[in-house]
Amino acid sequence: MAGGGMVASSGGTEFEAKITPIVIISCIMAATGGLMFGYDVGVSGGVTSMDDFLKKFFPVVYRKTQAEEDSNYCKYDNQGLQLFTSSLYLAGLTATFFASYTTRRLGRRVTMLIAGIFFIIGVVLNAAAQDLAMLIAGRILLGCGVGFANQAVPLFLSEIAPTRIRGGLNILFQLNVTIGILFANIVNYFTAKIDGWGWRLSLGLAGIPAVLLTIGALLVVDTPNSLIERGKLDEGKAVLRKIRGTDKIEPEFLELVEASRVAKEVKHPFRNLLMRRNRPQLVIAVALQIFQQCTGINAIMFYAPVLFSTLGFKDNASLYSAVITGAVNVLSTVVSIYVVDKLGRRILLLEAGVQMFIAQIIIAIVLGIKVTDHSDNLGTAYAVIVVVMICTFVSAFAWSWGPLGWLIPSETFPLETRSAGQSVTVCVNLLFTFVIAQAFLSMLCHFKYGIFLFFSGWVLIMSIFVVFLVPETKNVPIEEMTERVWKQHWFWKRFMEDDVDDGFKKNGHAKVFDPVSHL
Ligand code: BGC
Repeated sequence: MAGGGMVASSGGTEFEAKITPIVIISCIMAATGGLMFGYDVGVSGGVTSMDDFLKKFFPVVYRKTQAEEDSNYCKYDNQGLQLFTSSLYLAGLTATFFASYTTRRLGRRVTMLIAGIFFIIGVVLNAAAQDLAMLIAGRILLGCGVGFANQAVPLFLSEIAPTRIRGGLNILFQLNVTIGILFANIVNYFTAKIDGWGWRLSLGLAGIPAVLLTIGALLVVDTPNSLIERGKLDEGKAVLRKIRGTDKIEPEFLELVEASRVAKEVKHPFRNLLMRRNRPQLVIAVALQIFQQCTGINAIMFYAPVLFSTLGFKDNASLYSAVITGAVNVLSTVVSIYVVDKLGRRILLLEAGVQMFIAQIIIAIVLGIKVTDHSDNLGTAYAVIVVVMICTFVSAFAWSWGPLGWLIPSETFPLETRSAGQSVTVCVNLLFTFVIAQAFLSMLCHFKYGIFLFFSGWVLIMSIFVVFLVPETKNVPIEEMTERVWKQHWFWKRFMEDDVDDGFKKNGHAKVFDPVSHL
C-alpha cells in the first residue's frame, strides 16, 4: 500500500468460506482505494511539466523553463512547485492519526466514506483551481483522503477476505497503486495536447476513483470484526454469515469475539510497541519505509516527465517515457505476486539492490557526460540508454522494495503490536515520501547527475542492512515468527532472550487474536 499493507492471516486455522459477491466487491474497493492513491502519485509530475499549468500557477518556473540562463538541472527548482506535490503526503500522514481513531470507533466503512468525501472535495478544488491557494488546499484535502483510505481500505480488505487469499490481496493493493500511477501518466499524455485546460482534466479525472470509492463505501457492509469490536454482536454474526456464504461460521465468530476481548486487554498498543522484545520488528518496519523512499523511486514516479524534460526530451517524449516507466512498474509488480512466496523476500531485495545500483550508476555516468548546465542534447542513443536504465531501476523496485516494504512489516509484528505497528509503518512511509517530494527538484539542481549517485549510495546501505538484519519470512506462519525467525536470528535473538511476560502472553492468544481489527 502503498499507503498501507494488508495484514495477513492471523493463524493457521482455515475457516469455511466461499468467495462471495461481497468479497468480490471488496476487491473492487481495493482497486479504487489503491487507484486513487496511485493516481495522485502519478498525476503531479505530468501536470507540473505542462506549460499552461506552469504559466497559471508558477510563472517564475515557466520563465525558467523557457530561458537559457538557468542550469538545465535547476529549471524546476521551486519550493512552491514541490509543495504542490508534497503537501498531499504531509496532510496524509497527519490524517493517519485521526483515521486510526475513526477506523476503531466508527468502523472501516464510515472511514472509507470520509476518505471518499475528502477525495471528491479535493478533486473539485483542484480541477477548478483559480489560484495557488486553491490548488494547495485541494491537494491537502486529497492528502486527508489518502490518510483515511490507506488506513481503512487495507484493513477492510484483510478482514473481509477469506484467509487463503489475504496475502495475495496484500500485493494486489500495491498493484492497484501502480495501475493508478500508469493511468495518470496516460491521461497526462493525452491532456497535455489540450490547450489551456488539459491540466484541469488531468486533476479532475481523479474524481472517477474518488466517486467509485464513495459509492463503494455506501454499498458495502462493515466488517464483522469492526461490528463485534463496537459491541454489535448480532449484526456482526449476520454479516459474517453473509460474507462467508455459509451457516457454519460459529468457530470464526467465536474467534472474533475472543479477539475483540483480548484486544481490549492491550491498553496501550503504542507503548507496547516500544518494548524491548518488539524492537526488531519496529526497527525493520521503520528502516524498510525509510529505505523504500531512499531508493529514489518517487523522484521518478512524481517527477518523471519533469526529469525527462530536464534531460532535454521534448514535451511529448517526456510524457511518453513516463507512460513506459509506469507500465514497467505495473508489469514488474505482477512478477512479484508470482515469485514472492517461491523465491523469498531476501533474494528479491538483494537482486533488486544490485540491479538498482547498476542502473543508477549508469544513469549518473551518461548524464554526467552528456547533460551539462547549458547543454541538454542527450542524442537519441543516450536518451534510449537513460530510459532503459530508468526502466531497469523501476522494475527492480517494483518486484522488491515496492510491495515488500509493505508486506514484511505486516507479517512480522506479533499480534499485540501488529495494528499499532501498521500505523507507524504508514506514517513513516508518508513522512519520507513527503521529504523526497519536497526536496528532489532542489537536490537535482544542486547535486545534478550526482543525485543518482546519492540514491545508489542508499541502495548500497539498504542492501547491507538486508544481508545482515532482514530475516527470511517466506512460508513462515505468521504466528510462528517469534520462535522460527527472531529467536533464530544471529543478532535479533538477543532481544528475545529476556522474553518476560509483561502482562500479555503472546503465544496463548496467537490463534484467537485478529490483529487487524485493533488499530
Ligand atoms: C511506495 C510509493 C511509490 C509506489 C510506486 C509504493 O510501494 O510506497 O511511495 O510511489 O510504490 O509504485
